[in-house]
Amino acid sequence: MATTHEQDAQSVDDSNAQWGGRDPATPLSQNTHLLRWIEKMVELTEPDAIHWVDGSQQEYDTLCNQMVQSGTFIKLNQDLWPGCFLSRSDPSDVARVEDRTFICSLSKDAAGPTNNWEDPYKMRRKLKGLFSGSMRGRTMYVLPFSMGPIGSPMSQLGMQLTDSPYVVVNMRIMARIGMPVLEEIEKDEKRVVPCLHSVGAPLEPGQQDVAWPCNKEKYIVHFPETRQIWSYGSGYGGNALLGKKCFALRIASNIARDEGWMAEHMLILGVEDPQGEKTYVTAAFPSACGKTNFAMLIPPKGFEDWKVWTVGDDIAWIKPDAEGRLRAINPEAGFFGVAPGTSAKTNPNAMATLSRNTIFTNVALTPEGGVWWEGMTDAPPAECVDWQGQHWTPEIAKETGAKAAHPNSRFTAPASQCPTIDPDWEAPDGVPISAIIFGGRRAATMPLIYQAFNWSAGVYIGSTVGSERTAAAAGTVGEVRRDPMAMLPFCGYHMGDYFRHWIQMQRSLTETPRIFHVNWFRKGDDGEFLWPGFGENLRVLKWIIDRTRGRSLGKETPIGWVPLYEDIEWNGLDFPRENFEEMQAVDREAWRAEVLAHEELFINLHDRLPPETVFERELLICRL
Ligand code: GTP
Ligand code: SPV
Ligand code: MN
Repeated sequence: MATTHEQDAQSVDDSNAQWGGRDPATPLSQNTHLLRWIEKMVELTEPDAIHWVDGSQQEYDTLCNQMVQSGTFIKLNQDLWPGCFLSRSDPSDVARVEDRTFICSLSKDAAGPTNNWEDPYKMRRKLKGLFSGSMRGRTMYVLPFSMGPIGSPMSQLGMQLTDSPYVVVNMRIMARIGMPVLEEIEKDEKRVVPCLHSVGAPLEPGQQDVAWPCNKEKYIVHFPETRQIWSYGSGYGGNALLGKKCFALRIASNIARDEGWMAEHMLILGVEDPQGEKTYVTAAFPSACGKTNFAMLIPPKGFEDWKVWTVGDDIAWIKPDAEGRLRAINPEAGFFGVAPGTSAKTNPNAMATLSRNTIFTNVALTPEGGVWWEGMTDAPPAECVDWQGQHWTPEIAKETGAKAAHPNSRFTAPASQCPTIDPDWEAPDGVPISAIIFGGRRAATMPLIYQAFNWSAGVYIGSTVGSERTAAAAGTVGEVRRDPMAMLPFCGYHMGDYFRHWIQMQRSLTETPRIFHVNWFRKGDDGEFLWPGFGENLRVLKWIIDRTRGRSLGKETPIGWVPLYEDIEWNGLDFPRENFEEMQAVDREAWRAEVLAHEELFINLHDRLPPETVFERELLICRL
């Protein structure tokens, strides 16, 4: 913004009016440990200024306006999209970078074969070099955050130092941040996880900044023993919003193992039946495989008196209570959801949630100053500006295949705006969990629904989940890879030990949740999905709930219990028996190949696999 000489001459107090009269450089904490760490990081990264984030609306508004000035944000048409902004990332910084993500435990064995590992001493040296002067010309934001409701016994605290204002405003939606968190930190009862983040693009004097600074070299690094996170070079999603995958899954999975609870890549939802009986379930599907959609499900025709309540759409922290029942909290406060495919038809709750106060990243901009993405409406707009800032028309798309929105474009929206947000979504002790559902994106082999015979069979099912790769991470889209419990990219320690932890969890329970596997993505010979999915998934969910409450029958098959056609409520949907049977078919030949594919992962983990997984595999082979 151009400033006049009068403005320059204004007093310090006046220039801080935009921050509510507070000088943001003044520390908001007296915690000496914290202050010393920040001081050290300032010395290392050499920012031009320091800004303590108080988390206020005014601060958020000022940061957003500054980003509009700097070109990082585009303010959308406020009549159509109140409080909404669009951001376009660098085309090389559009998803999580799994091959640049490291678990630097003291021993390589502790990280296991599914994680990238580097010696922590070497890695620290490397990172110190990269971070040295990396914030030059930028402001370091000191961002206190809580994963989980403030004051909940299940919450964890973190402090992210970042040179990205985009990260600050996104974190304000995704987590609890600012003053209330600082008060928690002052109480000095909880450990604070230090998180250092830099986009790795220092600005030399006189150098013009870009809209989305980042670095070709990226390092997303976790030190599990000391519970530290260092993230360099990326400003996008799970790489940069460190409370999310880095803390709430990779570091938290370590804390959870040590303390006897679970940090999982799971949605949490509650189903209320017409009699008012409420049942909560969690579900683990890999990235971009339907968690947000399932969590916000709208009951289909025939289920008018049913209600599905949303607790969380991505991460669940699950802990046994004093009665030996699993309870879950959503550690997040917002949704960082996949935009493409989200529409008033597929997910009206998401559309309502993102209708205001939302940050869009890498979607298309319409001539009216609105947003659009593939699948949002049946007919595309006649023209728009695509996620890379290029002119886009349906004709151009037909010729070149160019997408208006990036396949991993996302919305960051407050959970509190979701029309179906559960009244108990911030309950400090969480909600009781009756069933755990695993699922993947599988064109063949996997039926729509089956139930594990028991907990250890269920852990086996979870540990062998396969799914086709999606755009949520850099890599080849479409190939089937094993993604145990949807945690392959997120488990912060040895996957074999993680399975063992799952097996052992049952010992602290008096009531064991039932375990299920679903697949919304099976395709017929014509290449079309066999199952309509979305709202219709409630029909499957109803059978799951009936099973957990001992109300429904099932048929025993080699892989587990399955519903008969008659066990599913079809009222409101014309779905022929043959189609259901095609979808539910357990093809023994295909399953032999499937079991061999399980082995591919297990061979890597063999020295740490709990014996139960080996027995379960044997039992499955015998039954097949
Ligand atoms: P992350 O945020 O990456 O963890 O993803 P997610 O698991 O929350 O996935 P999301 O709900 O955003 O869905 C991803 C894609 O799957 C979207 O394109 C959806 O339209 C599609 N999808 C979700 N549910 C269904 C379903 O029941 N059937 C079909 N065919 N597609 C679905
Ligand atoms: C996922 O990839 O599972 C996400 C998006 O939820 S990110 O926050 O980038 O990890
Ligand atoms: Mn996710």
